[in-house]
Amino acid sequence: MIYDAIVIGAGQAGLAAGYHLQQAGLRFVILEAGAEPGGSWPHFYDSLSLNSTARYSSLPGLPFPGRPDHYPRRDEVVAYLRSYAAHFALPIVTGAAVAKIERSGRFFRVTTGDKGYFKAYTIVAATGFFGQPHLPNLPDQAQFRGQIMHSAHYRRPESFRQQRVLVVGGANGAVQIGIELAQVARVTLATRRPLRYLPQRVLGRDIHFWLKLSGLDRTQWLDEKSMPIFDTGTYRTAISAGLPDRQPMFERFTPDGVIWSDGRYEKVDTVIFATGYRAKLPYLADLGALDETGRAQQHRGASTTVPGLYYVGLPRQRTVASATLRGVGVDAKIVVNHLQRYRQVERQKDTRRAADSLLKRRTQVWTSRSQEWVGLIGLMTLALRQQIATQKSATPRLVGEAMVQSVRVSAGFLGFGHAAELYAPI
Ligand SMILES: Cc1cc2nc3c(=O)[nH]c(=O)nc-3n(C[C@H](O)[C@H](O)[C@H](O)COP(=O)(O)OP(=O)(O)OC[C@H]3O[C@@H](n4cnc5c(N)ncnc54)[C@H](O)[C@@H]3O)c2cc1C
Ligand SMILES: NC(=O)c1ccc[n+]([C@@H]2O[C@H](COP(=O)([O-])OP(=O)(O)OC[C@H]3O[C@@H](n4cnc5c(N)ncnc54)[C@H](OP(=O)(O)O)[C@@H]3O)[C@@H](O)[C@H]2O)c1
Repeated sequence: MIYDAIVIGAGQAGLAAGYHLQQAGLRFVILEAGAEPGGSWPHFYDSLSLNSTARYSSLPGLPFPGRPDHYPRRDEVVAYLRSYAAHFALPIVTGAAVAKIERSGRFFRVTTGDKGYFKAYTIVAATGFFGQPHLPNLPDQAQFRGQIMHSAHYRRPESFRQQRVLVVGGANGAVQIGIELAQVARVTLATRRPLRYLPQRVLGRDIHFWLKLSGLDRTQWLDEKSMPIFDTGTYRTAISAGLPDRQPMFERFTPDGVIWSDGRYEKVDTVIFATGYRAKLPYLADLGALDETGRAQQHRGASTTVPGLYYVGLPRQRTVASATLRGVGVDAKIVVNHLQRYRQVERQKDTRRAADSLLKRRTQVWTSRSQEWVGLIGLMTLALRQQIATQKSATPRLVGEAMVQSVRVSAGFLGFGHAAELYAPI
């Protein structure tokens, strides 16, 4: 079977794409590497809450449950995403890690690890931006004998009790983890620049109310490097109180600690890099879809280099909200609209191609038939002339009989051949 679309990934982006494909009546399947839908959310740290209220955190067609003004916790998000997949009975194949996608004529061939291969006219890549933690390599990092980890693998504070911990990074992840750890350990945030805050609530309303009202959420107002910290005021207070403190980035590692920018040495047990994530789209490598840095080449979710290839959920693929629960649904709709138009145009091209080939074939048949007629008439004339020459007389009756006989034979021959060719399956 050749699907209209294959969606890769059953996180929020893949589910939103699935919803709109279903609404459009297209044949599709969602391939998910994991055992269940829900994406990366089950793997985030235990205390994580959404930074938008439930009112602004819904995927299309199913409101986020609970009080509209509460900030849902991680496990509520996981439950919501799983119930979303079940509610719309989205066709998801789990345990299907896509290894490779190739073009094969007018469709794509998708190879998975354990579930064989699938074919589709279009692809929606929705595998998220958060699959590949970005771990910098700082001077002398390899000689550090303490613990180094990325915030993607941090779950809860207990195992860090009494430790000296540095959290590298100055955005939401670093601040939340740093503040939580500061309850049980001595923690410093090491940042390249001063922290920047955005008030979580303004005039009694969540910031997302104002972002929506002002239209800022539909723009690219923040560039990739300027994500501020959403704060109700408690984070700023905790950091001002030194729980944790903040220092400019350290210069280098030593075997058991770091050298700070003022030359001071300090012993350290653990360094947590809350340094963000990078795109990971290895299965698209052979398609020519990525630039030299591995980034998707796309405009509003449509690949600019591979027709029929789409993306949902890339950070800022269209707006600042593209990779969030509140923004991914609109992007998915735009992508599916584009995909639908692409399919229509391709179908029209297919129909035109089939009609052209039928016409070409019939023209060939008629041309060859006409040539045979000319040949046969030529033969008849020759035979007639020969007869007249041998009999020395050409009575009208003799000529007539010869002609009728020739026409019968050739018409029967031509008619049979023509019908056979005309009605042969194409
Ligand atoms: C710590 C943290 C906190 C966040 N907090 C918020 C927040 O408060 N509000 C908000 O709106 N957003 C938040 N985000 C951003 C975003 O909403 C999440 O990262 C979300 O998980 C992105 O969803 P996604 O579907 O794009 O990708 P993912 O959730 O990563 O889902 C991708 C899916 O694709 C699958 N997959 C990957 N590769 C393959 C493959 N080759 N074949 C088949 N399947 C594959 C994965 O198994 C996964 O299920 C946060 C992100 C992080 C990291
Ligand atoms: N729901 C929530 O409340 C919540 C919580 C955590 C995360 N999130 C979301 O999750 C995503 C990831 O967040 P994140 O905080 O993990 O990452 P992030 O927003 O990408 O921020 C990465 C941080 O690491 C710093 N950094 C990167 N490379 C560095 C290096 N070599 N040396 C020192 N510092 C370096 C960056 O500093 P520069 O600014 O100097 O580049 C930045 O402060 C974001 O979308 C965020 O909104 C949401």
